[in-house]
Amino acid sequence: MYLVEMKQVEKTYNLGNVKVSALVDINLQVRPNCFTVISGPSGSGKTTLLNMIGCIDHADQGEVLVAGENVRAMSDDALSEFRAKHLGFIFQNFNLLPMLNAYENIEYPLLLNKVPAARRQQKVNTLLEMVGLSDRAQNRPNQLSGGQRQRVAIARALAAEPKIVLADEPTANLDSHTGAAIIALMRKMQNELKVSFVFSSHDPQVHAEADDTVFIRDGRITKISRQGEGERVLDLMRAVQ
Ligand SMILES: Nc1ncnc2c1ncn2[C@@H]1O[C@H](COP(=O)(O)OP(=O)(O)O)[C@@H](O)[C@H]1O
Ligand SMILES: [Mg+2]
Repeated sequence: MYLVEMKQVEKTYNLGNVKVSALVDINLQVRPNCFTVISGPSGSGKTTLLNMIGCIDHADQGEVLVAGENVRAMSDDALSEFRAKHLGFIFQNFNLLPMLNAYENIEYPLLLNKVPAARRQQKVNTLLEMVGLSDRAQNRPNQLSGGQRQRVAIARALAAEPKIVLADEPTANLDSHTGAAIIALMRKMQNELKVSFVFSSHDPQVHAEADDTVFIRDGRITKISRQGEGERVLDLMRAVQ
């Protein structure tokens, strides 16, 4: 079964009386336990597509199934609950809560899901160890490096044991060395926790690690490369740079 299925999805933004077609006839299937990378130039619709999968934004038309559920038919309350249970989010600018320390940031989604205290503590400590930050549990985001902040964000995204983690340009604000370490960490977490990652990115390091790559341009999918065609994807990346 696919984790995400989109059929003939359309999204148009209205800016005054100007219509912007952000997504046009999107047909997409996301495989479980994979790295899927959405690749395209700035303004091509990557974030809009991720937001549709993440149930942050509504499609105007078409079918969106996430973890088998028809999310377009859900009420806002049902969607909030669905998001908290099944989806994790990682952002370009980390989006950690500044007043909470690393431990509390990771614990936050567990509080939202009403996980009991003992289980929360065990889960947060395990995740802190997995991302190599056990000794930084008490640090607030402004007392952490960019790479460390993204490690906290990864742990937070995985805390509620989601099926899918959506990562919008997760390495864009990191130097390439730190970015490589973050990608390796996400791969490790994906393997160990059997979760799927869907990225938007134009970082060649992220593309090199992709199982599936979805190329998008002007809101339309122009090509999907599945695992095993990795070399060809890299060649294409070099060709367009
Ligand atoms: N809230 C919005 N209102 C109006 N237009 C938007 C909005 N969000 C995105 N867009 C437009 O939709 C298109 C796709 O944007 P986006 O998904 O952010 O692209 P990307 O993430 O690939 O840079 C762009 O033309 C952008 O200007
Ligand atoms: Mg974007």
